[in-house]
Amino acid sequence: MAIRPLVILPDPRLRHVSAPVTAVTPEIRTLAEDMLATMYDAPGIGLAAIQIGVARRVVTIDVSRPAAEGEAPAPREPMIFLNPEITWLSEETYSHEEGCLSIPDYYEEVERPKAIRVRYMGLDGEGHEIEAEGMLAICLQHEIDHLNGVLFIDHLSRLKRERVTKRFAKQAKREGA
Ligand code: NI
Repeated sequence: MAIRPLVILPDPRLRHVSAPVTAVTPEIRTLAEDMLATMYDAPGIGLAAIQIGVARRVVTIDVSRPAAEGEAPAPREPMIFLNPEITWLSEETYSHEEGCLSIPDYYEEVERPKAIRVRYMGLDGEGHEIEAEGMLAICLQHEIDHLNGVLFIDHLSRLKRERVTKRFAKQAKREGA
């Protein structure tokens, strides 16, 4: 397992639409392992492959972990989703503060459907379907957005989005990226 460098806003790769996984190859297994290692190291609760620069439809999630420092550690519950696809969204929505490893130290409330159903392929190569609500539903929607080149700031007002985009563009220029 290797920790890979994260792709940070305004890197244009974050706008790529990722390609489906056609088979569970050793390369895909290594990618999923590296994504988990990178996600736990950050630390974060979800990661899409494009966030380490790989445009494949792979998502890792562990909502059992505390996102903040200083909290008691929980046992790890890693989840891996290949080609996840939302098949149902609840009409009921709710609003929750989100962040993103590609937009460090920026948090805003985002309104999303409260419950979802997702079809995906597991590392076993089989099709699965789960129903999710709470943090898992938020995280799945956020990560599936990444697979389509969509960021959580796209759900904010234009003013907020432009402000944060400018801030990160300036920062990248300062760092010579
Ligand atoms: Ni994100």
